[in-house]
Amino acid sequence: MGRERRRMLTAVLRIFGSRFHQYLDQQIEEARQKARTLDVKDNLARMLVPPVPVSRVATKDQELDFLKYRSPSYVGPMSDSVAEETLLALRKANGPKPFDAKTIAEIALNSPMAYITRREGDDWVLDFAGITLFPYQPLTVSQFRFNLEAETFSIIDIGGRTHRPGDPTWETAITHVMAWVTVGIPSGAHNWVHFALPDTAASAEERMKLRDSNVSRLLAVHFRFTNRINYQALWIQRSSANAPTFKKALVPWLHMPFYEDQFRGGILRNTQRHYAKLVDHFDMPRSLDRRIPYFTFLREYYEVCARFAEALDPALEDDAWTEFAGMVERELPGFASVPRAKALGVLIWQVGVVHICDHLTYFPYIMTYGFMKVPQSFSTPYTQRDVSRWDRWKTRNFANAFVNFNPSEGLDQRLINVEAYGFVPDSVAGKAALQFKSDLQALDARLSAAGKAMVPVDRMIQSICF
Ligand SMILES: [Fe+2]
Repeated sequence: MGRERRRMLTAVLRIFGSRFHQYLDQQIEEARQKARTLDVKDNLARMLVPPVPVSRVATKDQELDFLKYRSPSYVGPMSDSVAEETLLALRKANGPKPFDAKTIAEIALNSPMAYITRREGDDWVLDFAGITLFPYQPLTVSQFRFNLEAETFSIIDIGGRTHRPGDPTWETAITHVMAWVTVGIPSGAHNWVHFALPDTAASAEERMKLRDSNVSRLLAVHFRFTNRINYQALWIQRSSANAPTFKKALVPWLHMPFYEDQFRGGILRNTQRHYAKLVDHFDMPRSLDRRIPYFTFLREYYEVCARFAEALDPALEDDAWTEFAGMVERELPGFASVPRAKALGVLIWQVGVVHICDHLTYFPYIMTYGFMKVPQSFSTPYTQRDVSRWDRWKTRNFANAFVNFNPSEGLDQRLINVEAYGFVPDSVAGKAALQFKSDLQALDARLSAAGKAMVPVDRMIQSICF
């Protein structure tokens, strides 16, 4: 493509970016003028048995905070990055890198796909029955089974037939698994991290009256922006209401194969299933299978978070904790009986480590191999060489906007920014926070030296905010 055409394309998309800024200014003005509205939608999910608490509408302050600090971070991926992706697609340089069954096994053990991967005898089984998906293109894969030592692999399709290397359907089967891994992580495997517990905790934190407390200071940092982003994801659905229409096809980052109700339905089922026994959730970090590298990594960070919560505990106010825990208890019975330090250790780990690590371990895979469209069954031959530039363009634009973390200008959200808590320096809480920072950095150094720092600590952020 000529330099002139490239410059024009970039200029057009930059104009789009500047219009986005104008749009944000307009949104801020509207949010300022709007009174806080009461949400009625959050009752709908209570019809599920057992009910699952879900995102409440953001308050006016939360809305303004998000529009000011988080919304501008979407401008780059939705303008300049789209220009870059368009150039790559036009140059036919955006195809997936060649992959095989080993590549998918690697993803299963080193990304959020691990949540639905379990051991069966000598095999690992990536089992799609572990998540509920209601896509508008039929789910074609049931299981991907592998044993890396023995180099044995098999794929069970949705009809129960087994496909093995050497079968005429094998390349097609591998291609389908990669597509459903690409779709399944953001729309299923990652749901429990965002919804139900973080939602409820964020909403309780916002309603706390004892704000001049260490409990509130700590929670405010770890649940900042969460109500707004989750409410958008679950009810507004600007990125997941993707009816297969011409209009939607033209929006660069809209690609996941779901109508809005289908996407929401999957989230509700997946979170309901995960939190059905709340006590199990708080035992989860130490029960993660150490044979899975992603889990070993997450567990190491859990120990640091748990130590921080223990050290902080004597500095936490009983009345403030009772107020917060009581509000969460009303939505998620059983929460108040979880020991305070344990509850906080898990919450900090979930929103400050697991969330970002899910995104940043998945991001390189989706950029390198990901795509989302495959035929309705294995009977139509379809291999990785058939993946379209359009599919890759849309998938990579989606990943740039919603999977990668794009930092906010003027706001340090790094997990190691413990000054954000605002604890009194040299107090028990202040010292615990500094120790937390140095423990995080020490763990990162140890893991980096061993080549096991899947996500550097410097890239971890404090809250679910994207
Ligand atoms: Fe997320």
